[in-house]
Amino acid sequence: MVTTMSSRVESLASSGILSIPKEYIRPKEELTSIGNIFEEEMKEEGPQLPTIDLKDIESEDKEVREKCREALKKAAMEWGVMHIVNHGISTELMDRVRVAGQAFFDQPIEEKEKYANDQASGKIQGYGSKLANNASGQLEWEDYFFHLAYPEDKRDLSIWPKTPSDYIPATSEYAKELRGLATKILSVLSLGLGLEEDRLEKEVGGIEELLLQMKINYYPKCPQPELALGVEAHTDVSALTFILHNMVPGLQLFYNDKWVTAKCVPNSIVMHIGDTIEILSNGKYKSILHRGLVNKERVRISWAVFCEPPKEKIILKPLSETVSETEPPLFPPRTFSQHIEHKLFRRSQEALEKKSVLPN
Ligand SMILES: [Fe+2]
Repeated sequence: MVTTMSSRVESLASSGILSIPKEYIRPKEELTSIGNIFEEEMKEEGPQLPTIDLKDIESEDKEVREKCREALKKAAMEWGVMHIVNHGISTELMDRVRVAGQAFFDQPIEEKEKYANDQASGKIQGYGSKLANNASGQLEWEDYFFHLAYPEDKRDLSIWPKTPSDYIPATSEYAKELRGLATKILSVLSLGLGLEEDRLEKEVGGIEELLLQMKINYYPKCPQPELALGVEAHTDVSALTFILHNMVPGLQLFYNDKWVTAKCVPNSIVMHIGDTIEILSNGKYKSILHRGLVNKERVRISWAVFCEPPKEKIILKPLSETVSETEPPLFPPRTFSQHIEHKLFRRSQEALEKKSVLPN
């Protein structure tokens, strides 16, 4: 079936409605925790996710290098999410990626519809919006563009945005740079577990099989932001996720039983440890629960790159070195696709039982 324009959140937002359709309204018990994101971002009290400076990650000076790596390891263990700065990716390149993605979304919806995905037939790449996947019919306040970005031989450039013309060159270069950064991060995380430097890299598929998936999230202005979410609470299934944004706040992390609003740090990349690394490390590195709020004043755009292991080829389970008599395996062996299925199943069970979406 051809997706109709009315399914786009952007068209809903620009229609002038003052109240949002009920499918976007969060359950009662969740509403109490949703505040004004601009006010939340300004609050100075409470914990804040760490900012990790990667300038010295490969320093010749062992002591300097170790200090940098230790900070990254600690952040990955305590938070599982951090701002990274001095990551080696130039501001110019990040700006090109942002300008290109924004220019694509600045086009009329009819233009974007030419790239519409078709989830029902398994065509998941392209322009899309969330379809209700459970009995509650719950929807999220966002549209997106999704495509595989790396390795280059697995890409389908024919479905990438042709407008603007810099989209493909900028996004290709950015994905390549992120792939290099992922290797560096994975080696620090490997050493942090007492493993060989290239172990985690291998365990998630190596240069041939680790897939970098680009998802541009477009959150239109919302007339009732206190009732909706741009992205509901979840943990990333990826090994690592790297996120750029347009300096409009929205990201919240569930840390020590409270929602913490991430501040916008110029030129940083937000990096998440995903479930894949949490599983391989037997929970030593954390995949943190997070969500996205929306607002009525400014459109928010974020560029998430999910670094994912192949769907079927690898069985994910705690590495034997991370397991001991006192630290039994916390996760059963599952392929990446089984892991995703397990999460979807759990979520739909929770919806059926009308439980809170927050884990116990
Ligand atoms: Fe996420």
